[in-house]
Formats: sequence, C-alpha cells, structure tokens
Amino acid sequence: MSKKVVLSDNELPKNWYNILPDLPKPLPPPIDPSTKAPVDPAKLERVFAKELLRQELSSERWIPIPEEVRDVLRMWRPTPLYRAERLEKYLKTPARIYFKHEGVSPPGSHKPNTAVAQAYYNMKQGIERLSTETGAGQWGSALAFACNLFGLKCQVYMVRASYQQKPARRMLMHAWGADVVPSPSDRTNFGRALLAKNGNHPGSLGIAISEALEDCVTHDNTRYSLGSVLNHVLMHQTVQGLEAIEQLKQLDEYPDVVAGCVGGGSSFSGLTWPFYYEVVSKKAPKNVTFVATEPTACPTMTKGIYTYDFGDTAKMTPLLPMYTLGSDFIPAPIHAGGLRYHGDAPTLCLLLHEGWIKPYAFDQVSVFEAATIFARTEGFLPGPEPSHTIRFVIDEALRCKQTGEEKVILFNLCGHGAFDLHAYEEFFEGKLPPWYYPEEEIKKSIENLKKELAWLPEVEKQFLGA
Ligand SMILES: Cc1ncc(COP(=O)(O)O)c(C=O)c1O
Repeated sequence: MSKKVVLSDNELPKNWYNILPDLPKPLPPPIDPSTKAPVDPAKLERVFAKELLRQELSSERWIPIPEEVRDVLRMWRPTPLYRAERLEKYLKTPARIYFKHEGVSPPGSHKPNTAVAQAYYNMKQGIERLSTETGAGQWGSALAFACNLFGLKCQVYMVRASYQQKPARRMLMHAWGADVVPSPSDRTNFGRALLAKNGNHPGSLGIAISEALEDCVTHDNTRYSLGSVLNHVLMHQTVQGLEAIEQLKQLDEYPDVVAGCVGGGSSFSGLTWPFYYEVVSKKAPKNVTFVATEPTACPTMTKGIYTYDFGDTAKMTPLLPMYTLGSDFIPAPIHAGGLRYHGDAPTLCLLLHEGWIKPYAFDQVSVFEAATIFARTEGFLPGPEPSHTIRFVIDEALRCKQTGEEKVILFNLCGHGAFDLHAYEEFFEGKLPPWYYPEEEIKKSIENLKKELAWLPEVEKQFLGA
C-alpha cells in the first residue's frame, strides 16, 4: 500500500481555480458604509495591488499562475498526500484516511501559497512595502518569507497575546527581515488610543487589521496584504485541492468527505473548492460532504449571525456579507491563534448558508487529545488549527467503525505544531480550559451594529434576501 503520493515539480498546477462563476447564487457585494452601496473597486487601489483587485472580482474560472510564482512554490510544492494508515489501525476503522501535508512549506503552513502570489504582484506594480496583521504568526511569517524573496519590506502587527505567547514565530519573521510589533502598538493612532485605556491590551485580529490598514494608508508606496477571507486569497490556495485530485487519482480513490479547519476560510477553501467544482460540473464519481471545523471559543459558523459586518475593529474595511460574532469580538486566549477571527470568507459563508458545508465546533481540550493521538500514530506534530479537523476525522472514523462504512476521508493538515510546543505542554499538564463563547455576546454585538447602522436591514434585504 502506498504511504504517500508525491507529484513531480512539473505537475504543479498551472492555473488557480476561481469559484465565483460556480457559486449557487451571485456573491453579495461588499458595501461601502459611506455610500450604503456596493464598494467602488477603484477606491481600494490605495490598499491592494491592482492585479489582486482584478482577481478579486474576476468571473474567469481558471486564472494562470505566473511562472515566477510557480518557481517559488516549487521550493516545497507539490506537497505530499499521505495515507494515515497507522491512525486507521489504531482506531480499528474501515475508513480510509488521507491528509494533504501543507506543513512542509518553509514557514510551516499553507499560508505562503497566497503570500508568494501577493508579494509578486505588488513587486510587479513597483510597491516597496507591505503591511499586514498576524494572529499566531503563521500568516506574518509566510508574508515575511515571501517579501524577502521579492525584495519588499514587510511590516507585521502581531496580536499582543500571541506576541508574548509565541516568541519563536516572531523570531522567524525577524529572520526573514520583517519588522514585527505587538498590536495594539504605538505605531498607529488606533493602537495608541487602545493602549491609553489598557497598557497591556491583549489585542485581537480585528484590531491588528485596523492597525495594518492605518499603516498602509499613512505610508508611501505601501499596500496592505490579507492572509484569508478575500476571494483572491482563497483562490491562491486552490493549488492544494487541484494537486490532491491528481494524487488521489493515482490511488484510484475519491473522497466521500473533505474536511478542513476555518479561521477565515483559506486553507479549507484551498482544499475543498476544486472538489466542489468536480461535484457541480458532474465530474465527481460520487457525492462529497464538505466539513468545516472551528473552536467553540470562536464559533462563527455554528453560532455566528449571517449579516453584513466590518472586517476589523476600527471599522475601516467595507462591510462584508458573512457569519460573524461581531467585529468587537475579543477572543479567549486559545492556542489555535489562526482560528480566532470574528468572521469568515464571504464565499464560504454563502456556501454554508446554502447548505453545502457541514460545520462542527470543538473545544481545545478535545482538540489536543486528538492532536496527541495523531502525533503518536502518524508521527507529525499537528498545529492546533488542523487539530480541530483531526478531532472530527477521528470521531467520523469511529462512527464508520460502528456502521462498517468504508468512507474515504481527506483532510487538510494545514500546519505543523513545532512552534506550538508550549500549548502541548499546557495540555499535558492539564492547564488548558475548554472555552465556549457565549451566544448572548454575539447577539449583543450585532444588535449594537444595527443600532449604529440603522440602514443595515435595508441593505441585508437587498443583497442577502434577509
Ligand atoms: C496553520 C493554520 N491553519 C489555519 C489557519 C486559519 O486561517 P484560514 O482559515 O484562512 O486557513 C491559520 C491562520 O493563521 C493557520 O496558521
């Protein structure tokens, strides 16, 4: 039995898959709160590279990957697809479990798949500097890596709780030449205002996004770069699913279930969208269930409200149609730093709303139990984020044991856990609390938003049919 399938360098996909033309309904547009109408894309050119904006709105299904980007991706891509045979044996399940190992990239996750493309297009446009936010540091280190390769400066606002919890990731960003500051920081008006109220504010992804955006518009020749949520970011990740289709073909397999974790939705979409395309274009030999996992401490998909909300805390972004906990959400300090965002990608939210995706939430104690089983059977130490999916996979494989079903389960191992050893230590010492985010907080936050933007229900009716 093959343990893994490795494609050759020249089998790296030549095109990204853009889901926009294949969505079951047109994607509701982002709304400019100053006009209460869809955003004028020209207004966003101060913030994003022009080619990325073009991709954001494109209705072409296949978008060519520039050769210079493929050349960098080939440093670690195509990534291997593994059969988790030892895990199957341990669980005594008839299910066949496969995982796509995105932790083999230099920064250790799927994030450089888009960071490289974004740095490349900004460099081509003559931009000299990129600003961004990072939670646990996965995205920041991916962008630092990519900027370094294309000769751009990189400014990272890192959520203060993670800056203190995960010094190794901060050092990795320094190694690739980035400037990293804890957020809230004294570099922006927004950060200074928050620090004046609380000198040791733990920060949040929403706050760090606000700071990175303020930095972008107040510095010459700087653009902003986002590691998730937007259409072009998710599209850059589809190399994962496109490779996985070829790899499974070599084994004469097709998945019944494709699963991934969701912070903003990029790793999940990167693996699942190409399979979604196979299903809607009737190329898939069977029906596929798409499973998305998240923490109970940040339950956007299982408890969030589908509405328009800001992407950041300072309310600088357009309003995006998404399942949200409210943009003032301050997360509990769970170790899955990459899964602590208050909203999700609009494309993913539309598919969730239309019933295409099954969401599951897990608390971090059960997540680390699953991570430990995986590490002790498959050897690889998973990051806390994909361990949410491993929890689902183990539960599903055990259900198959009960029913005798030989399901084929594919999941995304979207990052390794070598920089998360402190989290494992806390788990082994029994110090991890199983956080749950209260539903009343979500309702309160959205009610406040609707009080502030009294016209929002009108916009919802027009674009979400609510
Ligand atoms: C390893 C890993 N997985 C998942 C995520 C969540 O982001 P997304 O949902 O965009 O993949 C992150 C975010 O930083 C991450 O670092």
